Amino acid sequence: MERKTNGAGGVVRVRVPATSANLGPGFDSLGIALTMYNELELELYREEKFDIESFGEGAEMLPTDGTNMIWGAVRRLLSRIGQADEYRGMKLRMYSRIPVSRGLGSSAAAIVGGLRAANEWLGRPLGKKELLGIATELEGHPDNVAPAVYGGFSVSVTYGGGPESISFRPDIPLKAVVAVPDFTLSTRLARSVLPDTVPRADGVFNVGRAALLAAAMARGKAGYLKMALEDRLHQPYRKSLIPGFDDVTEAAGKAGAAGCVLSGAGPSIIAFTLEKEAAVGDAMVEAFRANGTEARAIVLSIDREGAKVISHRREW
Ligand code: HSE
Repeated sequence: MERKTNGAGGVVRVRVPATSANLGPGFDSLGIALTMYNELELELYREEKFDIESFGEGAEMLPTDGTNMIWGAVRRLLSRIGQADEYRGMKLRMYSRIPVSRGLGSSAAAIVGGLRAANEWLGRPLGKKELLGIATELEGHPDNVAPAVYGGFSVSVTYGGGPESISFRPDIPLKAVVAVPDFTLSTRLARSVLPDTVPRADGVFNVGRAALLAAAMARGKAGYLKMALEDRLHQPYRKSLIPGFDDVTEAAGKAGAAGCVLSGAGPSIIAFTLEKEAAVGDAMVEAFRANGTEARAIVLSIDREGAKVISHRREW
């Protein structure tokens, strides 16, 4: 498909939120955008040349050549619109706050940020839904990339080979308290401990809770969060990879959180609360420490905008 582009050029700056996937029962389906952001600036080059610099979280890990994940996303977009031969390099400045490999959607943010910036630079040949489709192909599942694109709370499925997603702004003034431990966990390892089949009772347990969570978020029913955040599909298998998981979630509850779950594939743990967010964070950090792990607590709100263009200027 060749798409016309217009207004191409300049330097595009994009902001993209951290995300937390699964939210307990909604494995590979539910996700939420958080008010912690990476920003990136992008210019495409016609020649095969890479000028990449990265600052902040994980800066030393970001490849500065064509193996860069953001370039992988940009190249996929260029192929999709039939312009892969016209732009073969890029200048990129990456400013990261989202911790890497901690279950907070840093790879989704890189992919979605790169797609949004390149799409803007090229004069917006694709819409958000098409960007979501490309991002899901690259990420493998839609639960982080959907809230990164749209903001808010997302319910996503794969249908006919592509993602379908409904996102909305939850009607609850929730704070998200994220306890980020000082070790990383790869999604691949966290998926490898999951069984291929589960008891029907566990499937039924999760279906009801995932649906209840979406309904509670949409209708502002905070009183249902505790039960709606329960899960039997992934956390029982993954918690052996996170020392102190049960103690941290219990401590969050005792300190006043409405519910507490593994963030994405972990190892971060996220508590949702209407009150006492500082005390919840302290309790989670203390429980991690009692299990021999240093952690930091970050208090966030729910992002309502998703990836957005901050500026599109003529030059650097
Ligand atoms: N749903 C995914 C998982 C999120 O839990 O493995 C992490 O990419």
